[in-house]
Parts: sequence; structure tokens; C-alpha cells
Amino acid sequence: MFLPDFRFPSAVPPLFVHLKFINFNVKYLIPRDTIQSIVDTARIEEVVGDFIQLKKRGVNLLGLCPFHNEKTPSFTVSPAKGIFKCFGCGKAGNAVNFVMEHEKYSYPEALRYLANKYGIEVEEQEPSPEEKQLDTERESLFSLNAFAQKFYTQTLHETEEGKAIGLSYFIERGFREDIIQKFQLGFSLQAWDAFTQHALKNGYAEKYLVDSGLTISKEGKLYDRFRERVMFPIHNLTGKVIGFGGRILTSDKTKPKYVNSPESEVYNKSKSLYGIWLARNAIVAKDNCFLVEGYTDVISLHQAGIENVVASSGTSLTTEQIRLISKFTRNITILYDGDPAGIKASFRGIDMILEQGMNVKIVLFPDGEDPDSYARKHRSADVEAFIATASSDFIAFKTRLLLNETNNDPIKKAGLIHEIIETISIIPDPIIRPLYVRECSEIMGIAEQTLMNELNRLLRKKSQKGFSPDVPEETAGTQEVAPPQEQVLDISDCSAQELDVIRVLLHYSGKIITLIKEGDDPDEPIKTEVGLTEFVCNDLRANQIQFDNPVFQKIFDAYAEGVDNKSIPDDRFFLMHPELDVANSAINIITARYELSPGWEEIKIHVPSEEENLEDTATRAILSLVHRKLSAMIYNNQKDMKELPHESEDWADHLSRDIYLKQARNEISRRLGRTLNG
Ligand code: CTP
Ligand code: MN
Repeated sequence: MFLPDFRFPSAVPPLFVHLKFINFNVKYLIPRDTIQSIVDTARIEEVVGDFIQLKKRGVNLLGLCPFHNEKTPSFTVSPAKGIFKCFGCGKAGNAVNFVMEHEKYSYPEALRYLANKYGIEVEEQEPSPEEKQLDTERESLFSLNAFAQKFYTQTLHETEEGKAIGLSYFIERGFREDIIQKFQLGFSLQAWDAFTQHALKNGYAEKYLVDSGLTISKEGKLYDRFRERVMFPIHNLTGKVIGFGGRILTSDKTKPKYVNSPESEVYNKSKSLYGIWLARNAIVAKDNCFLVEGYTDVISLHQAGIENVVASSGTSLTTEQIRLISKFTRNITILYDGDPAGIKASFRGIDMILEQGMNVKIVLFPDGEDPDSYARKHRSADVEAFIATASSDFIAFKTRLLLNETNNDPIKKAGLIHEIIETISIIPDPIIRPLYVRECSEIMGIAEQTLMNELNRLLRKKSQKGFSPDVPEETAGTQEVAPPQEQVLDISDCSAQELDVIRVLLHYSGKIITLIKEGDDPDEPIKTEVGLTEFVCNDLRANQIQFDNPVFQKIFDAYAEGVDNKSIPDDRFFLMHPELDVANSAINIITARYELSPGWEEIKIHVPSEEENLEDTATRAILSLVHRKLSAMIYNNQKDMKELPHESEDWADHLSRDIYLKQARNEISRRLGRTLNG
């Protein structure tokens, strides 16, 4: 069974400006009807109620938010709308989002969870031929890796060679039997092709043996990649084996200490973290992830009862790995062995973690110790206590470490200021940055103001280069200054206007509006009553307006279809939509509105000016969108014109199009001006 690896980016706050991050190309193999029946059946209050206590409050239910720390409940569930919204942290969603967020499930995983809860049967849809092909490849590699793991584990426990060499090594190293089992450790025999032959005999194709990297094919001969090594299987998030690391046991300096599987269709090194499948729950529970160097560190810490630990084994940390961790926590603690050169080399990588908005702490182990050796020498409680007391904030840590090296040399100190401020400037949260400036000013004994000026200078420079949206001006205070809203005018970007039309539809669909037209008698204007949805849909269709945002187009099409069938969908239709991107957009747009009302108990929201004049609201939304689309067309037309030879027929066509479009836009401007004034 093939599960596409689609996940809603949980770190994204529920603001519609973030819609661009949502993966629009979600493909899923659960039939659409089944998805629909799952989302229709799932009751938000029951789904949430399985995890947190809810109390009735008016028409809604209230509880403590599971997504941030709070003492007074601000997590609100609306059974009527089928959605939740936390007024503390802003998270919002429907039942599917809740399960994804709370259990860190992928979309299909969340659907299966709900299907199971409500006893709905899920049959898989037939995948396309390409999917099948990829499916077969992935399935075969998973199956082969699982087969290999069993073979190596069996070799470790059941062969004389395995027991005498492999198992005795692990035991000598202090690994307990239950830990050896838990990590599915193994041993590869001293032979050229013991595993390859065993796999071929069991019907595994040569192609997959080679693709997995378990077998190396050279000059027509097949032999094992891993020979006479203790084996560490590497698992993905769901616990499937995707590769191996093998450690040599002899002191043969001509051979590498560790041999690792190459990348394959199932093993992407930059996206994998050793130990993540065993750590995920502990990371959530502790709200912290320990990051160590390798296999042995992870295993020894587990043995000491510390389970929220992963290793980036071999490679330096990648943004994908950081994002994987950020699904479970915003806090990373890096456990180092006490080698200053190695630590300094890692500073760049840490900046990358800060850039992702994560909090980074550092634990430095005493000279010559790594987490593995320390955990082996000390009692579990002492290891935990050591990590707790030795952990210090990364920026303070870096400041102290570098300060030590300056020996009060003023020039070196100036360089240090620059380096530290550079790191602080990477932190995306403007509230946190000044806190670090204060702390560093204390550590270095340098005026806070000096550091703040340097920070602002750097932020300004970056924003000019287009790195950061913050553009603080030079200031006299120790505050970062609010950045001026420097709007980059991209004339072909219609997203704000598209959003406004969809917003009006989602909020006021089904409402009746009265249109006033001038009749033959100027004193007797003609009034017609029409549904807002009909008005918006028909008008935009008449103007052949297409949405650039594919999700908005889907929502619009659903309304337009409703207009044609005389059955306009209600907001629940979108909030519970089987396509996650549609549901998310609707939830974000609708709950963004609720933010206007502090007490959500009253589901009725007052936005008087807008609601009292819906004709105007709808008209303005339509005209603004059409105006913007026309501007985009004019811009593109003029751009094309520049490429054409003057006075050519084509050029003349473009010119008349330019004139026509501008006339149309003037007319729209005129009408927009009228609605704005009236
Ligand atoms: N590592 C690796 N490749 C290497 C060396 C190390 O991938 N050539 C990784 C492994 O994940 C290993 C970790 O770095 O677990 C720690 O390295 P090291 O201490 O050298 O390996 P150990 O197996 O712990 O060796 P020792 O018993 O000498 O401490
Ligand atoms: Mn070691």
C-alpha cells in the first residue's frame, strides 16, 4: 500500500497569507467518496474530546489548548461549524486538521484514524501506472530492507560468528539485550556474498538488491556491501527500515570505520534522522529534541532512559531535517562532545536552525566525552541531571565561547560583536531578538544601544537585499523600530483581490442583495433583488475572470455550480471539504473573521459597515478583482509589445488591445470610485 508523503505544514500559522505554502498537488488514494463520508461523520467535539476535556460554553465548547501552554482555556470548539479555533495561539481547523496536528499524522493517516474511530471502511483506489511503478520500487525496497534487517539480526543472535564477534562487541560496549532488540541491531558475516545469495534464493530481484545498495555489482559479480560489521538499521518516521550503517570491529585502518547505505528511492539522507521513529512521542512529551552525532549516542541515551533523541548521522544537519523535528517541537538541544573546533564548525548549521524560528540550546560534554561515553559511565539520573544543568542557550553560549578567545583585544571584540549580531539578526521573531541583544550586552559588557544599532543596520541591509521584511530605521532608543510597510507592487499579483472575493462569498453566500439600476425615469430607479452568490458568480463569469490561486478557483467553481443547480453550498461544505487545501483555505478565511470578536460564544459577528451594505461590499470586491486583472493584462500586453517590431500587424493588434483594456479599466475605476464615495 502506497501512502503519498503529504503533510500539512503544521508550523504555518493559520493566516491566509500563508496559503502559498500549502501543497496544492496533494494526491491521495483514498476514494473521494470515502473521504467525504469520513469528514461528514466525524464530529469535531467527539474527536477533540478524545484528547482534551471540553466544557460547554454557550453554543460552543471550551478547553485548554493542546498546541500551546495555557492556564485559562481559550481553545474553542464549534460543533455547529465543525471547527476548532484557539484564541491564544491562533490555530484553527476541522476534525482532520486536529488529528493531523495533535497526532502528527499525515493527511491519509488522519483520515484512516477517523475512519477507524467511526467504523468506516476505507478501500484503496487504484493508483496510476506511474504510481504503481514507483510504488513497486518503494515497496520492493522496503520489503528488501526489512528482509535484510531480519537476516542481520538473526545472524547476530543465532550464528556462532555473530554471537562471538558481533553480540560480544555490543555487550562489551555495555548495550543491554532489550536495547539491542529495540534498535534491531545485527551483524554481517565475514563472507563476500552471504546476504546477496540468501536474498536471491528468497526471490529478491538483483535490480532491487543493487538499488538498495545492499549488494554491489562489479564486473558482473555481485557482492555484499556490508561484510563483517555490526549493523545499525536506519528507520523512517513510521519505523520502516530504509538503510543501514555498519561499523567495523577490527582496527584495520585501511577500511572505513562506518559504511552506510547509499541513497535510494526510500532513503533520502537529508530528510532522515536516525532514531526519529523511536523518539517522536518523547519529543512531543518533553517538547524538546536532543540532537547527537551518531548511532551509538542515540542508543546509549535510550538505554539511560532518555528517548527524545535523534542523530543526523554522517551529514551535517539539513533544513529538511530541521523541518522534520519542527513537526514535533520548536526546541532543539544539541549535545556536543567537548571539541571546540568541531563546535565552531557547527555554528553555521545552528544559524540555519535559528532561521527556522526554533530555539536552540547547547550542552557541552566534558573533555573527551561524547553523549555515548558519558551515558555509559554515569547513572541514568545523573545523565539527565547533567544535561539539564549544562544546557545553555546557543547565543549566550556562542558569545561566551568567542569572547574567551578575544583576550580583550578590541579589534577581535569588534569582530565578535558583528558575528553575534549576525546570528541574532537571523531569528525571525522580532520580539525575541531584543531579548538576546540585552543578554549579549551583559555578557560582553557592551552597551545595549551599540548592539541594537548594529542589529538594525544589519536588518536594514538584509531587507534591501530582499532577505527580510523588516526595515527598521536608525533609532535613538534601544528598540527595534517598526519597519515601514514597503509594499512591493507586483502588478500581476491578484492574490489580495482574489482572496477578498472568496472571503465575501464564504461570509455572505446565500444573502439577498438589492441592486439599483437607472431606469428610463431618472427618479424611478429599478430595484432588483438577487442572491449575492449569483451576483458575484455570474458577474465574474461574464467577465471571464479566472483565479490564479487554484484553491480559490475550486471554491469559486463550487459556488458557480451551486448557482447553476440552484443549490448553493453552505460554509460547512467548504470547512469539511475532502480536499485538504480547500478546507484549510475556508477555515483560515472564516476564522480570521472571528478574530474580530473576542468572545466567540456569539457566533454572530458585527462588522457593521460591511454587512449593512452588502451590495457595495460585493460590488467592490468584484470591481477590485476585475480592475487588478485588467492591470495585469495591460502590463503583460505592453511587455509583449516591447518585443514586437514597431508598426507590424501584431504590434498594431497589441496597441488596439492596449487601448481597449485601458478604456475598460477606466470604466471600472469610475465605477469603483462611485462605490467608494457612495
Ligand atoms: N560516524 C559515521 N561515520 C564514521 C564515524 C562516525 O557515521 N566514519 C558516526 C556514527 O553514527 C557513530 C558516531 O558518528 O555512531 C560517533 O562516532 P565514533 O565515536 O567515532 O563511533 P563509535 O562507534 O562510537 O566509536 P568508538 O567506540 O570509537 O567511540
Ligand atoms: Mn563514540
